[in-house]
Amino acid sequence: MFILAAAGSAVGLGNIWRFPFIAGDNGGGAFILVYLVCIFLIGIPIMMAEVLMGREVRSSPINTLRRLVTVSKASPAWILIGWMGVVAGFFILSFYAVIAGWAMDYVLVTAQGTFEGATSATASATFNSFLESPLQLMLWQTLFMIITVWIVARGVSGGLELAIRVFMPMLFILLVVMLGYSITTGGFGEATEFMFRFEWDRMGVEGVLAAMGQAFFTLSLGMGAIMAYGAYVPSQASVPGTVTIIAMLDTVVAIAAGLVIFSIVFANGLEPGQGPGLMFITLPLAFGQMPMGTLFGTVFFVLVSFAAITSAISLIEPALAFLVEEYNAVRSRVAISLGVITWVLGLGTVFSFNVWADVHLIGERTFFDLLDYLTNNIMLPLGGLLMGLFVGWVLPRKLVSEQLQMSSAALQAWFVAVRFIAPIGVATVFVYTILRGILG
Ligand code: TRP
Repeated sequence: MFILAAAGSAVGLGNIWRFPFIAGDNGGGAFILVYLVCIFLIGIPIMMAEVLMGREVRSSPINTLRRLVTVSKASPAWILIGWMGVVAGFFILSFYAVIAGWAMDYVLVTAQGTFEGATSATASATFNSFLESPLQLMLWQTLFMIITVWIVARGVSGGLELAIRVFMPMLFILLVVMLGYSITTGGFGEATEFMFRFEWDRMGVEGVLAAMGQAFFTLSLGMGAIMAYGAYVPSQASVPGTVTIIAMLDTVVAIAAGLVIFSIVFANGLEPGQGPGLMFITLPLAFGQMPMGTLFGTVFFVLVSFAAITSAISLIEPALAFLVEEYNAVRSRVAISLGVITWVLGLGTVFSFNVWADVHLIGERTFFDLLDYLTNNIMLPLGGLLMGLFVGWVLPRKLVSEQLQMSSAALQAWFVAVRFIAPIGVATVFVYTILRGILG
């Protein structure tokens, strides 16, 4: 169940929507290499850290940190990791719901046969006219939030298990089918070349930061989501084993999505760096051309919507679990309140694509860009950095080694990763980007 829930959290819009567009914006190849290195050297060790903390205390992230601080006689300042996570969760969910709404809208649009015989011009026009309507975006954002709140209000297990057990494998199979199709498009060779040829000059320091941020985002790390789920991991389960499975699964889905999308990009002479609309402009082209495309496309967007819901649940869970524990509050009431707050914040993202499209904050960013940057490129890596330091240097070694149950060599390697590689890696990229920002 933990594997299912954590995989449900990890695999989401981050893999299918965000990974390809961020990779495209940052020039492909070198970006993807850095991303993979971050997954393996930072992501997997930090994910293990989150799971072990959650399993040790079995409570919400904030209370988990409180307890661990007491156990280790450490400074209560470490509890701020939990609070920052709650805030990051809100921020992310607020824009996540809007994008998930796009996927839901595309279920209907695709089902109506809109994309049969579509050209790249008509596919972009369909997408852009959708973005121009705040009401439409709000309608879907609202619907997505209602579904998410409804599910978390009833407790996380229940329907979730079915959704993940059935729909995740379906999404996987459909991606394989589309991968098959993408090989016939004629753009596949160029796509692999774009993704796997490491040309460093196509990427700057910002790209390294983006790759690191994407690694955290895609594995749901740095804000306590995996810690919250770790509370449900049985004592006899292997932490390194389960974590590795989840990370592999997540990576395979992202790479497959990238190959499909970039094949379509190159087969149709499009630009890889198109920003957030990439998936919504390219995939409809494929669905418009492939046999039974309308059916496949409709099912695809349904599955992406489900994948988004299982991720969204994990974004709200840390805050929800904390409030329920702390104030003995009724779960459903807390869920609704949190949902309303997130929804209001999400309006900022809705307007970023239309009425506020020209409002620029801190360096040419729309409200959505700013939230995305703040969470993915700053808060999540910072959370990961602090978690690495906390688990590596502060927690009693005995507690950690009993949780992980690894051979001493493996444990040693893991310690090196959380003590040095993750914190120094994240800190170096931060310092570098800040210096670059200051020095131009
Ligand atoms: N990992 C999810 C995705 O790829 C998004 C997500 C869910 C997330 N929970 C999270 C991201 C917690 C950061 C932190 O779509």
